[in-house]
Amino acid sequence: MSELSVNHLLGIKYIKEADIQLIFETADHFKEVINRPIKKVPSLRDITIANLFFENSTRTRLSFELAEKRLSADVINFSAAQSSVKKGETLIDTVNNILSMKVDMVVMRHPNPGAGVFLSQNIQASIVNAGDGAHEHPTQALLDSYSIRERLGDVAGKNVVIVGDILHSRVALSNIFALKLQGANVKVCGPLTLIPKYIGTLGIEVEPDLRKALQWCDVANMLRVQNERMDISYFPSTREYTQQFGVDRALLDSLDKEIVIMHPGPINRGVEITSDVADSKQAIILNQVENGVAIRMAVIYLLASKIKN
Ligand code: CP
Repeated sequence: MSELSVNHLLGIKYIKEADIQLIFETADHFKEVINRPIKKVPSLRDITIANLFFENSTRTRLSFELAEKRLSADVINFSAAQSSVKKGETLIDTVNNILSMKVDMVVMRHPNPGAGVFLSQNIQASIVNAGDGAHEHPTQALLDSYSIRERLGDVAGKNVVIVGDILHSRVALSNIFALKLQGANVKVCGPLTLIPKYIGTLGIEVEPDLRKALQWCDVANMLRVQNERMDISYFPSTREYTQQFGVDRALLDSLDKEIVIMHPGPINRGVEITSDVADSKQAIILNQVENGVAIRMAVIYLLASKIKN
C-alpha cells in the first residue's frame, strides 16, 4: 500500500490496518529526519495548514505545529479563546473564512464529538481530527501504538489495559480501535461508573481489579481523570480513586513482571500515577510525546500527497 485509503483522518474507526502500517513506516523515516542536525525536509513547501483549536491543548497543538514546520508547510494557528467565535461566528463561517485564505489542510480540536466529520462534509480541505470531545483522538492512538511497537517490537498479540476514565476519553476509544485493528488484546479497568455501557459491543472485557489487570498486561495506559467533562460525581473522592485505580511504585514492584507504563498527558501526578512511576524507565510517556511529532509528520505528509495527486 503506497497511499492512505482516506482523504481525511477523522478517527481510527474510518481507517484500515494497512493505513496504520503505512503511517508507521512513514513515521520511521521522519523519526530519522528529526534526529538529524538539520531536522527539516522541503516536502510540503506548497501546502498551507490551519491549526484550529477550539479546546485547550499543549502536546497535540505544539506537536502538530512542529510536524508541519519540519515538513516546510506554511502554518497558521487559530485559538477559539482569542477569536471571533466569541462574537457568535459559526464553525462553518469561521472555517470558510480561513479557507478563503487558500488553506489546503485543517487540523482541528473541538469539544463536540463529530465536529471533524461535519467539517469534512461541508468544506473543501483535508481534515485531521486532533480530538473531538469524548469521541476520537486518532493521532494520539497512532503515536501510542507506535510507541508500544518501538518498546516491545510489535503490537500484535500484546496485552494492553487502559485504566481510568474510559467514559470521557477520546484517547481510550481511538486506542481500542487501533489496538484491535493491529491484533492486540485489550481490557479496560476503572470505576464502573466511568466504563461506558457499550464497551462489550467493542469486544472489550472489563477488569475491575487493578492488580489483576496489571498482572495480565504487557502495557498499562493510564488515563487522566477528566474532571472538566464531569458534571456529576463518578467516584466518592480523588483519594479513594487513587487508592483503587492509581499506580505507585509499590504496586508495580509487587507484580511478578515488568510492564510498560503509558500516559497520554496531561498527568494528574499523584492521582492516576505517582511521580516515581511517571519518571521511571518503565514509563514511556516522553517517548510518546517524541513519537507524536514523527507520527503527525507522517499523517500530514500522506494526506498532503493525496491533495497533490
Ligand atoms: N494528549 C493530549 O491530547 O494532550 P493535550 O490535551 O495537551 O494536547
